[in-house]
Formats: sequence, structure tokens, C-alpha cells
Amino acid sequence: MAAEGEPGVKEKSETRTSGNRRDFFNEIAGCALAIAGLGGAAITVEYSSPNVLFEPPTTFRAGSPDDYPVNSVTFIQDQQVYIVRTEKGLWAMSAVCTHLGCITQWKPESNQIACPCHGSKFQREGNVQAGPAPRPLPRFSVRLAADGALMVDKLETVKETEILKV
Ligand code: FES
Repeated sequence: MAAEGEPGVKEKSETRTSGNRRDFFNEIAGCALAIAGLGGAAITVEYSSPNVLFEPPTTFRAGSPDDYPVNSVTFIQDQQVYIVRTEKGLWAMSAVCTHLGCITQWKPESNQIACPCHGSKFQREGNVQAGPAPRPLPRFSVRLAADGALMVDKLETVKETEILKV
């Protein structure tokens, strides 16, 4: 058995210390590589998945024409659209103010559509009665589907003269 102080014993102790340090650095390097690999994998998955915007459809069913009495203005909240029906017919109109985009409100007591933000007022036909709104409320295409339901397309604006006769 070798006694302490002999050359063989000292070398064995130095080898153990050097091995521990090497293992430690190997573990650090392994962790760093694993983290870099996970980051690269995450970027690859992100890049390869389709970059699609899921927006609500612009065309919607607005029920039956019979749901809208003559001389009524109905606000469809989830679409931010008015369905206006008069004795002439029916049309769909944006409820978004043409000034800065606030949602307007139908005021039956004054027979007006009013914007709560800066005070613009519109006729039920959509024309500006009081500013600062610069333009009338746009009208949207509305047609009857095969089953008799109203179909409103918010991507297609139409002239004021286009009224659906129902
Ligand atoms: S947003 Fe309607 S008046 Fe300003």
C-alpha cells in the first residue's frame, strides 16, 4: 500500500480534481447546447406554421326581413351594423362613425344616429347632420339568400340609392 507523500498518490488526487472540473464544464456546455437547440426548434416550428389572421367573416346573416318593422332602425351589436327599414325598403349601414371610428347610437327620440365621442349626428339614411364626421355612414350590400334570409356583406359598400325592396 502506498503511503501519503509518494509520487503516485499525489498524481491520483490531481487527476480527480481535473476530472471534476472537466465534467462540470461538459455539463455546462451540454446545457447551453440543449437550450440553443430548444430555441432553434421553437423558431423552426414558429416559422413553418402558417401566419394567418383569423378575422370574423365579413358576410353575415341578418335574419328575415320580417324581423324589421317598417320605420325601424335596428342595431346589430356584434356586427356594428344598422338595419334600417322604411316604406321604400331596407338597407344595411355601418354604425362606425366616419370621424374617428366610435360606435354610434340610434336615438329614436330625436330620430337621429348620434356619436357619443365628439357629437356627430347622422340622419337614419346615414347623412351627416352635424360634424365633425366628414362623410355619411357607409351602406353595405344586402340581398336575400335562397332561404329568404338577409345577407349583409360588409366588404361591399353600395350607393344610397340601392335599397332592397322587401
Ligand atoms: S368619432 Fe364620432 S364624432 Fe368623433
